[in-house]
Amino acid sequence: MPKKTQATWGGRFTAGPADLMLQFSESVSLDRRLAPFDVAGSKAHSAMLAHVGLITAKERNAIHAGLDAILAEIAAGKFTWDTRLEDVHMNLEAALTKRVPAAAKLHTARSRNDQVATDMRLFLKHASAVLGGKILGAQRALLAIAGANRDVLIPGYTHLQRAQPVQFAHHLFAWLEMLERDRARLADVVAHANWCPLGSGALAGTTLPIDREFTAKALGFVDAKGRPQVTQNSMDAVADRDMFIEFATACALFGTHLSRIAEDLILWTSAEFKFVELPQAFCTGSSLMPQKKNSDSCELLRGKSARLQGNLHTLLTLVKGLPLTYNRDLQEDKPPVFDSFDQSALCADVLAGTVAGLTVNRDRCAAAVADPALLATDLADYLVTRGVPFREAHHAVGAVVRLAEGNAMALNQLPLEEVRKVHAAFGPDWTKVFDLDRALAKRTGTGMPGPAQVAKQFNRWKKLLK
Ligand code: ARG
Repeated sequence: MPKKTQATWGGRFTAGPADLMLQFSESVSLDRRLAPFDVAGSKAHSAMLAHVGLITAKERNAIHAGLDAILAEIAAGKFTWDTRLEDVHMNLEAALTKRVPAAAKLHTARSRNDQVATDMRLFLKHASAVLGGKILGAQRALLAIAGANRDVLIPGYTHLQRAQPVQFAHHLFAWLEMLERDRARLADVVAHANWCPLGSGALAGTTLPIDREFTAKALGFVDAKGRPQVTQNSMDAVADRDMFIEFATACALFGTHLSRIAEDLILWTSAEFKFVELPQAFCTGSSLMPQKKNSDSCELLRGKSARLQGNLHTLLTLVKGLPLTYNRDLQEDKPPVFDSFDQSALCADVLAGTVAGLTVNRDRCAAAVADPALLATDLADYLVTRGVPFREAHHAVGAVVRLAEGNAMALNQLPLEEVRKVHAAFGPDWTKVFDLDRALAKRTGTGMPGPAQVAKQFNRWKKLLK
């Protein structure tokens, strides 16, 4: 027998939803985490209703007290969530109705559509700020490791082949740049989410004389000067999920960066490189091979990036092709957003922890960077300073490299007569090129791995990350 519906929307129904439908359509098991934002929204909304005279100050106070008490109950883990009430919004309203008669007026001039849009904008502002702070923590850990290994040089790679020498710190600074852009993207999400949709109603606003700016101000949807910011189109405000997608994009790109950082670290910890050692606390062993110490934190960072990309894809596909305005499909927008936030936040902390305990194997780095062939490009530059066109210089140095390889000699061990046979522009000073310190000192331009530039970057990052 169908049960009579108790739902807030039950007036036009003679029977309630099937148990299967309730199970299928509930979202409270997930969206209950929006409770603090929902309560903030309801408090601002009821304050506004009192401000414009739609409810009395007494009713507003009763609603506020009731909502505060409910929130305290939730925080204490004493609140009973009921999946039959569908979502967080209706659970809170039902609980308030039990305590406060004025609760029946709370939903005046409001729809769950502008309510959920408001809750999620508040959530996204909060989540972006929290995640930005965690990424900052990871950046600080990276800066500390770079600082502790200021004098270490390693080969930089292209095609995973040793290319040119760089400061270890310069490589880590590349990661800092990536993460800095991630923080900037999250700040953009905050800015885009900072417009209040309340007052949009279900899709067409309300006939009641509400004050949208009042509500926006009460919820902190304000510009730098404290002026309220309200969304400009009621249909867009309830249908739009752009900033969900922007947040998931920021997380997906952060994940891609994490994955590249993790991959570098995984390579560097292998016996073939052995440039760094990861802290035991972030590694695991093998159930079979007793000698194994695996870089699992990094492998999971690399793996999580797939999940973060998947969440973005879910959201893009969810919204694509939906007619304006709200459709129930949109309830599926929250799991990927929550998951992107939770996983990204965890990843940022794990990166910080892994990096904080990392040690650098200086001998291995020094041995890897000692190959004079890494300065073959500098040798071509040397010929250029002696008037040789670069293409010709490149070709000549290539021939010298081949000669060294054929004789199983290091590049700088070749006799001057032999290299002069390749190109007459080689002078007696040609081997000076292979002095690593000298080679790096010549890299004086902004963004290059010369010692003066790297020192400048240390100062820049110290300021940016303080
Ligand atoms: N639980 C719903 C969601 O998250 C809230 C909005 C419901 N609106 C509606 N018209 N049924 O999307």
